[in-house]
Amino acid sequence: MKILLACSEVFPYSKTGGLADMVGALAKALAAAGHQTGVVTPLYPGIRERFPKLRQLDWQMKLPMGSLSVSAEVYVLHPQPRLTCYFIQQPHYYARKSLYQTNGEDYPDNPERFIFLSKAVAHLARYLPWQPELVHVHDWQVGLTPLLIRHQEWREGWGRAPKTCLTLHNLAYQGACPAVNYQFTNLPWDYFHIEGAEFFGQLNFVKAGISFADEITTVSPRYAREIQTEEFGAGLDGLLRRREDAVIGILNGVDYTEWNTTHNPNLKHPYNLRNLTGKTANKKELQKYLGLPVSAKTPMFGNIGRLVEQKGIDLLIPALESVLTEPIQFVSLGAGHSKFEAALSDLARRFPDKVAVRLGYEEGLPHQIEAGCDFYLMPSRFEPCGLNQLYSLHYGTIPIVRSVGGLDDSVIDLREDPIRANGIKFSAYSVPALAQAIRKALVLFEVPTLMHHLRQNGMQAQFSWKVTAEKYLAVYQKVLDS
Ligand code: ADP
Ligand code: GLC
Repeated sequence: MKILLACSEVFPYSKTGGLADMVGALAKALAAAGHQTGVVTPLYPGIRERFPKLRQLDWQMKLPMGSLSVSAEVYVLHPQPRLTCYFIQQPHYYARKSLYQTNGEDYPDNPERFIFLSKAVAHLARYLPWQPELVHVHDWQVGLTPLLIRHQEWREGWGRAPKTCLTLHNLAYQGACPAVNYQFTNLPWDYFHIEGAEFFGQLNFVKAGISFADEITTVSPRYAREIQTEEFGAGLDGLLRRREDAVIGILNGVDYTEWNTTHNPNLKHPYNLRNLTGKTANKKELQKYLGLPVSAKTPMFGNIGRLVEQKGIDLLIPALESVLTEPIQFVSLGAGHSKFEAALSDLARRFPDKVAVRLGYEEGLPHQIEAGCDFYLMPSRFEPCGLNQLYSLHYGTIPIVRSVGGLDDSVIDLREDPIRANGIKFSAYSVPALAQAIRKALVLFEVPTLMHHLRQNGMQAQFSWKVTAEKYLAVYQKVLDS
C-alpha cells in the first residue's frame, strides 16, 4: 500500500504530547510492515540542526491563501527503508518558538497556519511521483485536507485522487474559528454549510474532516463510543452518530524501541520483571535528582502531562493534599495552564519533603519518572487513549486511572478481574473517589505479593505497534475496496 500520513507534530522531530508519539510510531510500523509510507509535517526551528541528513527537494510550492500566493520549500529525510518524512518549510508560519501558543495563548493566525498545512498535504498527495493511494490525517490541524482532496477531484479534474482517513486524537480541539478564515481555503462557499465545514457560523476543521473523510478512527474503542454521546461529543456527537459506520476505535501501541527499561539511554539502571533491583535504584536516583529524601520504602506517585482541564489536575491537587499526611512522595512534570502551574508549585512549597514539581517540557525526565515511581496518577476528565499509563505498565509502575476512554480500555482493576489486574481504577469525577484510589494504592504497597502480581501483569502486557498498525491497514484496505 502507498500511504501518506500528515500531522502538525511528529516524534522525534517535534512534540507537545502523545499525538506526536502516535504518528511517529505509526509511520515507522507501516514502513516496517512493507508499505511505502510518507509523513508530512512542518519544519519547525531546530529540526535541521538535530537531523543534519535533512535535504532540500527541488520543489517550490506556491499555494493560494485567499488573495495572496504563499510559497514553501520541502525538505526530506529517510529515517528507515520505505519511510520518507516531508517537512514543509514556511518560516512565516512555522519558524516560531513553540508549536501552537505563546504565553499560554494560541497564535491568532493558527487557522491560517494550518489551512496552509492542510493545503500542502493535498498538494504533495497530488504531485508526489509515488502517488499515495491513501491519505491519513491526524487531528484538526490537517482536518481540512480530506475536503481539499475531494474538491480537487470533483471540480478540478484530479483523476484517481486518494481516499482519506481522519484520526481524532482529541475532540476537545476542533480548530473552530471565525468564518472569515474560510477565505484562506480558496474553496467555494457551497461547502460552508451545516453538512460541511460550518458549525454555528464558524469554520470548523474537524467537522469538515468528519464530513468529508472516507473513514474516521479514534485512538481507543471506548472513546469511539464516548464521542457519539452528548457528554463527550463536544457538539459533534450528532454528526458522529450519523457517520457511525465509519467510526472505528483503535487503541494506540507503544514504541518499545523508545519506551523500554532495558536499553534506555535515559535510565542509569536497566531492569526487567525478573530483576527489579534496577527499578529501586532508579527510584533513588530520581529522589536524589528532585531533592526529595532518598527512601525505597516511601511509596512514590508520579504524573507527567499537559496541565489542562482534560487531565483532571483540579482533582489531583486536592486529593493529594488530603493524603499528604501519610508518608508518601509525589512528583509532577508538566506545563500548561498558569492556575495549575501555580497550584502545583504551591503544593511543592508547602510540602518540600514530599512533593517535587518540575514545570516545563523535558525529554529524558519522563522516563526517569515512569521508572522511578511506584504508582502513576492519571485522573483524566476524558482521555482519548493516553500513552503515559501504557508506558507505566511497561515500566512496572502501577497506574491509577479514571475509567474513561483509553484508560478504561488498557487498565484492569482487581475488582474487574483479579487474575489479569494491572492497576487501580475509579469512576466518579470527584476528589474523594481519587483520594480513595490513592489510599488503596497505599494498602497495596504494603502487600508485596499483590504489588508484584499487578506489576507482572503490566510488564507482560504488549501494546505492540505491529498489531495496531495491522488494524490501521485493515481500515485502509476497507476504504480502498469501497
Ligand atoms: P496527551 O497526548 O493528551 O498529552 P498522552 O498520555 O497521550 O497525553 O501523551 C503525553 C506524551 O507527552 C507522553 O509521551 C509524555 O511523556 C509527554 N509529555 C507530556 N508533558 C510533558 C512534559 N512536560 N515534558 C516531557 N514530556 C511530556
Ligand atoms: C491526544 C489525547 C491522548 C492520546 C494522544 C495520542 O493528545 O489527548 O489521549 O493518547 O492524542 O493519540
